[in-house]
Amino acid sequence: MAGSTPIGLDIGSSSIRAVEVRRTKDDYQLINFGQFPLPPGTVAAGVIQDPVAVTSALKQLWTASRFGTKRVNLGVTNPQLVVREMSIANLPPNQMRQALPFQVKEQLPLAVDRSLLDFFPLEEPGDNPTVRGLLIAMPKDAVVTLVQAVEKAGLWVTGVDLASFALLRAASRLDSQVEAIVDIGANITSVVVHADGEPIFVRTLPRGGSEISDSIGTRLGMPTAEAEALKCRFGLHGDGNRDSVAAMIDAVRPLASELRSSFTYLASGERQKQVTRIALCGGGALMPGLAEHLQEQLGVAVMYADSATRLRDIRNARERGFDSFVPSGAVSIGLTLGVS
Ligand SMILES: Nc1ncnc2c1ncn2[C@@H]1O[C@H](COP(=O)(O)OP(=O)(O)OP(=O)(O)O)[C@@H](O)[C@H]1O
Ligand SMILES: [Mg+2]
Repeated sequence: MAGSTPIGLDIGSSSIRAVEVRRTKDDYQLINFGQFPLPPGTVAAGVIQDPVAVTSALKQLWTASRFGTKRVNLGVTNPQLVVREMSIANLPPNQMRQALPFQVKEQLPLAVDRSLLDFFPLEEPGDNPTVRGLLIAMPKDAVVTLVQAVEKAGLWVTGVDLASFALLRAASRLDSQVEAIVDIGANITSVVVHADGEPIFVRTLPRGGSEISDSIGTRLGMPTAEAEALKCRFGLHGDGNRDSVAAMIDAVRPLASELRSSFTYLASGERQKQVTRIALCGGGALMPGLAEHLQEQLGVAVMYADSATRLRDIRNARERGFDSFVPSGAVSIGLTLGVS
């Protein structure tokens, strides 16, 4: 039935994005999509600073896009997000939820009473005493503020989902590779490593395209808006000026280093997984020359993710600019896949 699947809603630092699909027996048909820009500073790294501005942007997006439902599945992310592999007691689902804070409180950097906790099993435990999975912990306040801002716009939050898992649903390529999906946003870079769709590692880095533009502007002594334009137009290929190429390389260095250290950690950790492919998405990944540069720096094949690969009937949407929506739209697409 049209509108029976909640809309995927991603509140990013630069824009709000929403995707509506119709779930058929075998696939997902794209019905509608839309985005609305947010004034700088409204949302910083997944955390709402100005809830009134978010509510107003949502109302405008819903008026302009004429979505078929007000039910939404909301994406959440946070620089303090913790996703950690662990084994916990194998209890029935309702008891597991109640017992989770007690089972994990010693091992969390966040206070359990101020955290939202979830557990994503990575195995079918059967009668085993324990089950291995990913523990997810997120500061509760930030999520509550987000949900309230959305509900004030007259929308109904039917689910809240980790942006990184949405990314995995939209953008993962299922094969024998160990793939790292890297979503480079304005303030946040989400890294999700998976093997054939099973998440192995999730990390949220507090850096992205804004920091890169700021760094270029400082280095070349130009306003951030000018640095942003230079970055988007020429990127790491440079504009023919040697200083600008050096500034671009320096600006992406912190991100490249953090990716490298995440992959090194993963390769040396308990699971010893070597990332063999990086799939880029997010607006920040559009920087010209970035894929080649990361490939050279990290020694791993780098390509662009196709976050619309699980959607059908995208031809009409293409005429309305869907192709330019997709790079930043991965989270909103993934939020509407697999929910009901
Ligand atoms: N053509 C381009 N070249 C380089 N960078 C670009 C280009 N287009 C957009 N960007 C960068 O993409 C970033 C925004 O990406 P995106 O829209 O994915 O972020 P967001 O989801 O709103 O933010 P976040 O995920 O951090 O909350 C900005 O920093 C912008 O500079
Ligand atoms: Mg984003």
